[in-house]
Amino acid sequence: MQQDIQRVLIDRQVLADRVAELAGEIASSELAERITLVPIMTGSFMFVADLIRHLPVRMRICPLSVSSYRGKSTQSGELKMGPEFEQMACSLAGAHVLIVDDILDSGQTLRQVTQAMGSCGVASLKTCVLLRKQREAALAFPVDHVAFDIPDEFVVGYGLDYNDDYRNLPDLVVLKPHVVMEAAQ
Ligand code: IMP
Ligand code: MG
Repeated sequence: MQQDIQRVLIDRQVLADRVAELAGEIASSELAERITLVPIMTGSFMFVADLIRHLPVRMRICPLSVSSYRGKSTQSGELKMGPEFEQMACSLAGAHVLIVDDILDSGQTLRQVTQAMGSCGVASLKTCVLLRKQREAALAFPVDHVAFDIPDEFVVGYGLDYNDDYRNLPDLVVLKPHVVMEAAQ
């Protein structure tokens, strides 16, 4: 796995420090006394686990899986939310929701999730991402909290995957081009 890494973009210490700092920013914003935290699975699991340990507020955690339709290009923008959404939707009325995702790229994921939740009678809806790519679509999408702005490159580690691999890397890294190309063949 280590030999597949081209370079470390953000190392584990910088991630840890900024995630703690971001939690402070979230806690000092108008955060309700009790929140419903919705981690978008699977990419946000490591970020969320670190973030919530610095968030001294009563919360329930309702993970939501979101995936692109099998066999269709992610460019189509069509996403499928897990079956847990229906059950969760019933309990969202009056809730103060904080959606947490790993990375803001095209904005499709957060757009669809916020739209779906917005129609559930929530009291408030906020969004938080670990990473935001420096591309027009991502920058144009309004998000409440961002830990890092990064170049428009494909990154893995700290929860993020390439074809389901590399999530366990403690640093956020860029893979060697041949790794990505060989796997795509
Ligand atoms: P969006 O819907 O295009 O904003 O993309 C969000 C989702 O695409 C993320 O939750 C990731 O699962 C995936 N994604 C986008 N860019 C990357 C990347 O650089 N590395 C790993 N996953 C990514
Ligand atoms: Mg992914």
